[in-house]
This record gives sequence, structure tokens and C-alpha cells, in this order.
Amino acid sequence: MTDLSVLVFVGIILALIAIYAIRLKAVPMPTSGKVADEIIAYIPSETGTVTDLGSGWGDLAIAIARARPDIEVTGIELSPVPFAISRMRAILAAKPNLSLIRADFRTLDHNPGEVVVCFLDPRLMDDVGDVLSQRMDPGAIVISRAFAIPGWQAFGEIPMKTSSDRLYLYRFGSHKAGITA
Ligand SMILES: C[S@@+](CC[C@H](N)C(=O)[O-])C[C@H]1O[C@@H](n2cnc3c(N)ncnc32)[C@H](O)[C@@H]1O
Repeated sequence: MTDLSVLVFVGIILALIAIYAIRLKAVPMPTSGKVADEIIAYIPSETGTVTDLGSGWGDLAIAIARARPDIEVTGIELSPVPFAISRMRAILAAKPNLSLIRADFRTLDHNPGEVVVCFLDPRLMDDVGDVLSQRMDPGAIVISRAFAIPGWQAFGEIPMKTSSDRLYLYRFGSHKAGITA
């Protein structure tokens, strides 16, 4: 490869990342190992299925699959570059309990399971509420890093020890005032 073709290749990759970040209104920020561990601690012990809405480079989904081999973990990511990297990392991690899907979580016909984790953007949280309202089963839990779901009532709003963010915890079915699961 010539220097110019390397430059063109890197430019295309960076442009793709930027175009999807603008289109999806979310930057693919990775989750550090310590932050992932703190989030994982809130996944109940009896959980069998977890979905990461917007799984980015795969950091959180892979960390959950490693820490909890008893859980079937699904990561959903639309941006092609982070998705491709996450697939490579998943192959290297060789975790049979981890699936990564390239899709828009707003339109993918997927049951999100017993726990949903997400770290998105305030502009996306209305969509998250709408999607989960259509697909979640009563009793399922949402763990949202940094951003609340508008109109939902959290049963926990916890300042994180490993970041300046809060974790918003919801239980579907008792997530609106006056409704109980
Ligand atoms: C901050 S990253 C979170 C990464 C990952 N959850 C983690 O903690 O390691 C947010 C990701 O959500 C993705 N995203 C945003 N909207 C999406 C959508 N509608 N469908 C699929 N992925 C989406 C973005 O492309 C971005 O990579």
C-alpha cells in the first residue's frame, strides 16, 4: 500500500465513523473496564438475557459476556466501523454466550430480554422508551448510563463511583407513576 492509499483508507474509516455518529446522534464512546464492572454489578443474579442497545466497539457487551457466562448477551449496533471491530473482538474473546447484530435497535424485531443496558445520548432516550414499551416484558430491567428515559420513573438513580455519570434503573411495568408490574 502506498502512503496515499493508507491516507485515503484512514480518511474513509474516519468519515464513516463521523457520518454515522451524526446520523445516529451518538458518538461511539467506549466503556472502560472499571465502569463496565460497576454496571455489571447491577445485573440481577438470576438474569438469563441482556441486550446492549448501541453496543459500539463491544466493550460493555464483551465485559458482560465474560463476567457472566450464565447470561446470553446481545449487542445491537448500526455504525459499521465500531460494529466490525466489535465482531473481531468477539471472535478473539470466543464467548459462546455473546451475539452481535448489525441493526438499528429502533426497527429490529428483537425481544430485549430480562435486562437492557444502554449508554446513548439524551436525544435518543424518547426512542429507547418507545421501543422498550413495545418489546419489553413486565419485570424486565433497564440500566441506562448517564441518560434518563423521559416520562419513566426510575427505581434507582445512582451516582457512579467509576465515572461522573449516574445510572438510571427502571423496572418495566412499574416504570410509570400509578402502574405496578
Ligand atoms: C456511547 S456508544 C455505547 C457503547 C457501548 N454500549 C458500551 O458501553 O461500550 C453508543 C452507540 O450507540 C450506537 N447507536 C446509536 N443509535 C443507534 C441505533 N438506533 N441502532 C443501533 N446503534 C445505535 C452508536 O452508533 C454508538 O456506537
